Amino acid sequence: MDFRTVIEPFRIRSVESVKFTTREDRVAALRAAGFNVFRLHAEDVLIDLLTDSGTGAMSAQQWAAMMQSDESYAGSRSFYRFERVVRDLTGFTHVIPTHQGRAAERILFHTTLHPGQIVPNNNHFDTTRANIEVEEAEALDLVIPEGRVPRALHPFKGNIDLERLDHLLSDHGDRVPLVMVTVTNNSGGGQPVSLENLHGVRDLCDKYEKPFFLDACRFAENAWFIKVREDGQGGRTPKEIAQEMFSLADGCTMSAKKDGLANIGGFLALNDNAWAESARNLLILTEGFPTYGGLAGYDLEAIAQGLEEVVEEPYLRYRIRSTEYLGEKLTAAGVPIIQPPGGHAIYLDARELLPQVPPTQYPGIALANELYLEKGIRGVEIGTVMFGMRPDGREQPGPMDLVRLAIPRRVYAQSHIDYVAEAVIQVAGGRDRLRGYRITSAPRVLRHFTAMFEAL
Ligand code: F0G
Repeated sequence: MDFRTVIEPFRIRSVESVKFTTREDRVAALRAAGFNVFRLHAEDVLIDLLTDSGTGAMSAQQWAAMMQSDESYAGSRSFYRFERVVRDLTGFTHVIPTHQGRAAERILFHTTLHPGQIVPNNNHFDTTRANIEVEEAEALDLVIPEGRVPRALHPFKGNIDLERLDHLLSDHGDRVPLVMVTVTNNSGGGQPVSLENLHGVRDLCDKYEKPFFLDACRFAENAWFIKVREDGQGGRTPKEIAQEMFSLADGCTMSAKKDGLANIGGFLALNDNAWAESARNLLILTEGFPTYGGLAGYDLEAIAQGLEEVVEEPYLRYRIRSTEYLGEKLTAAGVPIIQPPGGHAIYLDARELLPQVPPTQYPGIALANELYLEKGIRGVEIGTVMFGMRPDGREQPGPMDLVRLAIPRRVYAQSHIDYVAEAVIQVAGGRDRLRGYRITSAPRVLRHFTAMFEAL
């Protein structure tokens, strides 16, 4: 591409209005929500960057496929299309649909983990961690050291530390039932993992005879980063790269709400026959028959079509560029973010921006709330509220205190992003005024979703 402007590779022919509110409206709404943006009514949000999960816009082809779905309980044509597409992409033998990613995680971990075991990953996402901890096993993060430092530059900051993984497997291999790698590394800033690193994990898994699973939610974004950043990969298609990524693993969990370009759905795919059988048995108990797994036939169609569209080059070029564009604007204005910009989101470094707010007073919550109050933008804390509570009930600072601005796929135009940049820069300018929060009530697990706060 020798033209500088990367355009949205689509036209819009169906629109959804957004609602403008006043600061007064937003103060009332956030107070009613216990100062937790998860508890807001989405209607009261102007630009919603809470998540890129299930929030994308579907294509005309996806809607068309949905209209032609087969809703048979067992053996529906839509399942076989879904299975064909997933197999073509991943190469895995068994394709088990689930209602979303965490259902795949629960089924995998509940059928394979025992108390006291350890599951390593670059960084576990919150649901992955919670599904491991609920089995009384340990979720261990082994991202490379650069992956823990927001300003550190590295083309593949999501890489797992192979040396530490080797030590873990040699010292405690008997306690490790499987190795996981998350692509891209969501909790660490949407950062990619290189093919070289995935090959390294494969080699270690061969050496210690361990199965290797990908948490593949954003596999296509990861493949694009490999294409543009890794030596010798520029001439390959994103799909070829993705196929190689999957070929190195023995299975994957997938949330189709991200790179499936669907509003709901996921799957567990794997090669091991015995593991697949226990997974299907649990699936029938909690999700549904193995040819629908808790999804409608039309969901399976939307995912099958989405998985084909997500690896298209014009889409991925636009997708990654639009995230980078926001990152560049913020960086130019001196707002601290995780560098370099990730695939699906920009992560503001709230700990650095608000040094007056200690981690246990939740700088991420302070910043996320201010962005909503001032400009109607909803981001999400990825920090001490999300990751600071240990299974034994002790609280400690999370690895970082971030506010993630996740960009829904194919939803917002460049002017929305310009508005977001202007808003963040303005809020960052008034940083000295911001104060921390304390929690007034919280559930025992995954507290960030429903906790209530009070301003200090
Ligand atoms: N793994 C990763 C890396 C994720 O980002 C998510 C979800 C999941 C697993 C679980 O998938 O939501 O379909 O059950 N992440 C969303 C987010 C919720 O906002 O980042 P799910």
